[in-house]
Amino acid sequence: MEHTAIFQKLWDDYRLINPSVDKIHHLLNERGEHIINDHIALRTYDVAGINFEALAETFLTAGYVEKGSYNFEEKKLNATHYEHSSDNLAPKVFISELKTKEFSPLVQETAHWVATQVKKADLKKGELLFSKRVWDPINFTSYEALRQESEYAAWLYVFGFRANHFTVFVNHLKSIASLEEMNAFLKEKGFPLNVSGGEIKGTKEQLLKQSSTLADKTVIEFQDGAKEIPCCYYEFAERFEERPGQLFTGFIAKSADKIFESTDKN
Ligand code: NI
Repeated sequence: MEHTAIFQKLWDDYRLINPSVDKIHHLLNERGEHIINDHIALRTYDVAGINFEALAETFLTAGYVEKGSYNFEEKKLNATHYEHSSDNLAPKVFISELKTKEFSPLVQETAHWVATQVKKADLKKGELLFSKRVWDPINFTSYEALRQESEYAAWLYVFGFRANHFTVFVNHLKSIASLEEMNAFLKEKGFPLNVSGGEIKGTKEQLLKQSSTLADKTVIEFQDGAKEIPCCYYEFAERFEERPGQLFTGFIAKSADKIFESTDKN
């Protein structure tokens, strides 16, 4: 699968479950903007068969190469970022995995159950990252119990394999000059921002500034009833030159730790 087709498929699902994303996209289009995605993020548990390597496979086949790895102490995650080998405007891919062994038996058992269900689903090669939730049933009590330990673990249990977020590459916008302007535009249009760690995470000196909307809410049919819970958020990134003519392409663990909180329940 070509990388453009991979992102289209992930985007089609992402915009469908996140009405705000579609609205923001249209508002920018109306201003004549053509949106370039800075990166997409995928989440998983560190269990064989569904770990970050299983998700990365599709991208490696499509011409992506590994560029950096990160450790998120507080959230107990490892992450790797990938870039396309020749298409400079292709989104970077950020894949994280939860270090399940650092959590309770509940998190570990859930992760293993998910891996078993995925195996049973017998997905076609390269299809894991689009597969969403191939496990059933899910229940709200488990979701809440998981969330006590890790919002990330709970989100994955309910939403499965799909893009957690896409990111508008603010540098490529013509009518918006900075992340500060982007945020002002979003607030003016009525989209609440994630303020955990401040509206803007990262600094010019760190070469990357990021912000995000608060996640949309969506109704999920749990075994123990329908509940409205946070879904995904939209992210915005402004990058700075690490040397003349070359924007920094990496990520900052501390900022991402805060961005992850955009899907926290509020
Ligand atoms: Ni991100």
